[in-house]
Amino acid sequence: METMLSLLTHALLLQTVTSQTINGDDLSALLSFKSLIRDDPREVMSSWDTAGNATNMPAPVICQWTGVSCNNRRHPGRVTTLRLSGAGLVGTISPQLGNLTHLRVLDLSANSLDGDIPASLGGCRKLRTLNLSTNHLSGSIPDDLGQSSKLAIFDVGHNNLTGNVPKSFSNLTTLMKFIIETNFFDGKDLSWMGNLTSLTHFVLEGNRFTGNIPESFEALEYLHHHIVPPIVHCDIKPSNILLDDDMVAHVTDFGLAKIINIAEPCKESSSFVIKGTIGYVAPEYGSGSPVSMDGDIYSYGVLLLEMFTGRRPTDNFINGMASLIDYVKTAYPNNLLEILDTNATYNGNTQDMTQLVVYPIFRLGLACCKESPRERMKMDNVVKELNAIKKAFSAHTYA
Ligand SMILES: *[C@@H]1O[C@H](CO)[C@@H](O)[C@H](O)[C@H]1NC(C)=O
Ligand SMILES: *[C@@H]1O[C@H](CO)[C@@H](O)[C@H](O)[C@H]1NC(C)=O
Ligand SMILES: *[C@@H]1O[C@H](CO)[C@@H](O)[C@H](O)[C@H]1NC(C)=O
Ligand SMILES: *[C@@H]1O[C@H](CO)[C@@H](O)[C@H](O)[C@H]1NC(C)=O
Ligand SMILES: *[C@@H]1O[C@H](CO)[C@@H](O)[C@H](O)[C@H]1NC(C)=O
Ligand SMILES: *[C@@H]1O[C@H](CO)[C@@H](O)[C@H](O)[C@H]1NC(C)=O
Ligand SMILES: *[C@@H]1O[C@H](CO)[C@@H](O)[C@H](O)[C@H]1NC(C)=O
Repeated sequence: METMLSLLTHALLLQTVTSQTINGDDLSALLSFKSLIRDDPREVMSSWDTAGNATNMPAPVICQWTGVSCNNRRHPGRVTTLRLSGAGLVGTISPQLGNLTHLRVLDLSANSLDGDIPASLGGCRKLRTLNLSTNHLSGSIPDDLGQSSKLAIFDVGHNNLTGNVPKSFSNLTTLMKFIIETNFFDGKDLSWMGNLTSLTHFVLEGNRFTGNIPESFEALEYLHHHIVPPIVHCDIKPSNILLDDDMVAHVTDFGLAKIINIAEPCKESSSFVIKGTIGYVAPEYGSGSPVSMDGDIYSYGVLLLEMFTGRRPTDNFINGMASLIDYVKTAYPNNLLEILDTNATYNGNTQDMTQLVVYPIFRLGLACCKESPRERMKMDNVVKELNAIKKAFSAHTYA
């Protein structure tokens, strides 16, 4: 793959994975999943054949399968994403998927899957995104899913699910999007949802809920319209960023770590302590400003500049330049190719690459790194722009 596209896809991903071996449980879980797919009209799973008994191969064969990826630096080769959305798959969901213990994203939406949601998915303790919407699933939401304590996005809308939403969900302090529309849920008591303070988005319509709308829903409605959650991380740098190939999930992850602790974002947030890591720290922290989302954006901007220049913020820059940001500013906007990481290759037209990626990325990075916190870009806009850049570039590259 073009490295430029891969840079974009993993806008924060620093590849450190060297040797990877296949985990036997992951392999058999995926093979079991495949075996319960009765029809794969577009043959999206045709690549799911090559592993066989290659469990000791240095290259992670299963990670190359369509829809599968493994982006876990600490556990290389473990499956972190299974995404086969809109593939026309007909079949049932194998309970063995619960053995994918490093899975973060499971998206099987918009297929024709029937049967139950396996309770064993509760074994995917790192699951953050579960999207099974628009299938033919029946039965109820398994209680065990409430054990996936990192769950942030839960979408089972447009199925044939029944029963109540399990109370165990009241333990999901990380839940941000809860979407169960157009099913046959008929619970009476949803008041516990008012305890989910992290919830920013919920869609419950098209069910048979009875009883009064709990008072707490008004609070939810309020949250619903304030869909940008507080993101305060305090110490953003490459080693702290979990890898993910999913932009949305990634940003979720970015913020979630501390959303849980909104009241006490950073233990060391005394004004005497410089929060964060040298080179990535927002300048206002130096003068004792409290930790803020704006500070996170600054760190994120430095990361973007680092990724696309291949230079570290702690490098010594010549000509009296104090920082990576100054280094980028001197080349912006006309000489960006001079500072672009030489490893960021693209086989197509250089001018296209500059217009579609290099220029917008550096503009974005600099907009995040503004000296004044208030002038910095907001996270939701950063995500929107990154996605737009990636989309435009992909469309151009694969046109
Ligand atoms: C495993 O490898 C052996 C020897 O190469 C081969 O005969 C066998 O079919 C393989 N098994 C699978 C499941 O691919
Ligand atoms: C995988 O999952 C199945 C079904 O949940 C379970 O019976 C089996 O023991 C698991 N296998 C391993 C190796 O964990
Ligand atoms: C789940 O998947 C559907 C279909 O692919 C998509 O439209 C929807 O936005 C997804 N849900 C969430 C919460 O991202
Ligand atoms: C729900 O079940 C009914 C009856 O079995 C079926 O006609 C309908 O297509 C199903 N809907 C979905 C979304 O699977
Ligand atoms: C919530 O989690 C606690 C601690 O793990 C557990 O004891 C409790 O039963 C859970 N509540 C529900 C409703 O599952
Ligand atoms: C909601 O939170 C309150 C306060 O922590 C607690 O007393 C109550 O039991 C919780 N309700 C549910 C249904 O979890
Ligand atoms: C560029 O790629 C080469 C070969 O993959 C690698 O050895 C080198 O460290 C990379 N340089 C940077 C700055 O990432």
